Amino acid sequence: MITKVNHLGIAVRDLEEAIKTLKEAFGLDVSGVEEVPSQKVKIAFVPIGETRLELLEPTCEDSAVAKFLQSRGEGLHHVALETTDVAKGLKDAEDKGMRLIDKAPREGAHGTKVGFIHPKSTLGVLFELVQEESH
Ligand code: CO
Repeated sequence: MITKVNHLGIAVRDLEEAIKTLKEAFGLDVSGVEEVPSQKVKIAFVPIGETRLELLEPTCEDSAVAKFLQSRGEGLHHVALETTDVAKGLKDAEDKGMRLIDKAPREGAHGTKVGFIHPKSTLGVLFELVQEESH
C-alpha cells in the first residue's frame, strides 16, 4: 500500500552549491548527508514537513545519476512513494506488465529498502518505492 510521497529526488552536479541555492531561495536547511554506494551517489536530505527533498550528486561516471545529468542536466530525477512493502510493490508492478529497474529491493539511504520502476512504464517519471526501516 502506498502511503505518501516520501521524497522528491533532484539530480545535481555539486551538492554544496545545491544546498546553498535552496538555503538562499527558500531558507531550507539540510538534515544530513550520506553516501549510498548501491546507487553511486552522495545524498543530502532537506526536510519539508512530512516529506523532503533528496539532492543527488553522482560519486562516479557510471552512476545512473551521472548519466541523467549528461543527457538531461540538473533537475527532478525521481518521485519516491512510501509503501509498506517494497518487494510486494515491485512484484505487483511486474505482474501488471511494468518494466522494473530493480527486480528485488535494494538498500537505500537511512536503512530503507528501495526499488525503482522504469519511467517508460510510468508516465515518463522515474518512481522509487521506498519502505522505511520500521515496517
Ligand atoms: Co530517492
